[in-house]
Amino acid sequence: MKTKIAVFVSGGGTNLQALIDFQNAGGLKDGEIVLVVSSSPTAYALERAAKAGIASVTVSKKECGSQAEFEERIVSALDQAGVEMIVLAGFMSILSENFTKRYENRIINVHPSLIPSFCGKGMYGLKVHEAALSYGVKVTGATVHFVNEIPDGGKIIMQRAVEILDGDTPEVLQKRVMEQAEWDILPKAAQAVAKALREEKN
Ligand code: GAR
Repeated sequence: MKTKIAVFVSGGGTNLQALIDFQNAGGLKDGEIVLVVSSSPTAYALERAAKAGIASVTVSKKECGSQAEFEERIVSALDQAGVEMIVLAGFMSILSENFTKRYENRIINVHPSLIPSFCGKGMYGLKVHEAALSYGVKVTGATVHFVNEIPDGGKIIMQRAVEILDGDTPEVLQKRVMEQAEWDILPKAAQAVAKALREEKN
């Protein structure tokens, strides 16, 4: 049986789309996306899931009384769908150690820089590219890594470097990093982890 995957999203969901496209092209040989979990009811990613015929659930932190309740609701949706592996694809909520321990070596995340640069608490989305541009680095990129209790601190699975060009704005750079790195390495890393987990079951 293929490894059952949940993809966690909060916004546009272009990385989710890359995973869906990869799956439709037959690249996700050892995994199957069975659920999309969104932290926001208005995330465009939810429409992408619907178009692809993938079940989705929204768990909004605001509506939960606590971090524990937020995570309990997520876990119950994951259990119902039989999820074995989680891909964080632009998921903007922090998960507690309680949650990450439960899925140890089963959660991966894509981050839009070459870790350990421009990462950690408060570094997400465009802020990462703003920081890279204001530091003046000439090369940035993206990283896929396992998720543990330290934000962006888990073992690195794959990285891809991307050039910074004169005149780049955070938006232009974000798009280049997505196109040249994230949308390619995230699906490949997801397949590699899904394969390892599938082999572990047999
Ligand atoms: C992506 O660039 C992803 O790497 C980043 O948010 C964007 C989500 O875009 N994630 C982080 O910064 C996590 N620390 P998407 O919703 O279009 O995939």
